Amino acid sequence: MKKTIGFIVFLTAVSTAFAAADGAALYAKCKGCHGADGSKKALGVSGVIKGQPAKDIEADLKGYQAGEGGAKKAIMQSQVAKLTPEEIKALADYISKLK
Ligand code: HEC
Repeated sequence: MKKTIGFIVFLTAVSTAFAAADGAALYAKCKGCHGADGSKKALGVSGVIKGQPAKDIEADLKGYQAGEGGAKKAIMQSQVAKLTPEEIKALADYISKLK
């Protein structure tokens, strides 16, 4: 019994680590424009994305997928076109926790 509980704790820890790594890995291709810590205004026009509520970032990214956005939305559309809803969640979560 003890062993089973230990194994479940281990599995939970591993899957949590993977979820976190996912967001960070996905964010690698955003750094060039938004900055390593999300504090840059991409191309001088976007808002600062770090620390925004995850649900706002998620809504923004889904908006770009749906063809919404500002004057430079075409740039973001190509960035998010192939992301799955799970990947968008992981990214939003990661960015919302950037300090
Ligand atoms: C080539 C530069 C570039 C890259 C790479 C890029 N972005 Fe952007 N991002 C922009 C620009 C420009 C805007 C403003 C677009 C507009 O006019 O709506 C923007 C806007 C955003 C916004 C809305 C911010 C706001 O509140 O104004 C979010 C969120 C965002 N980007 C997230 C990401 C994520 C996540 C990635 C990586 C998957 C990424 N971006 C990659 C240039 C980039």
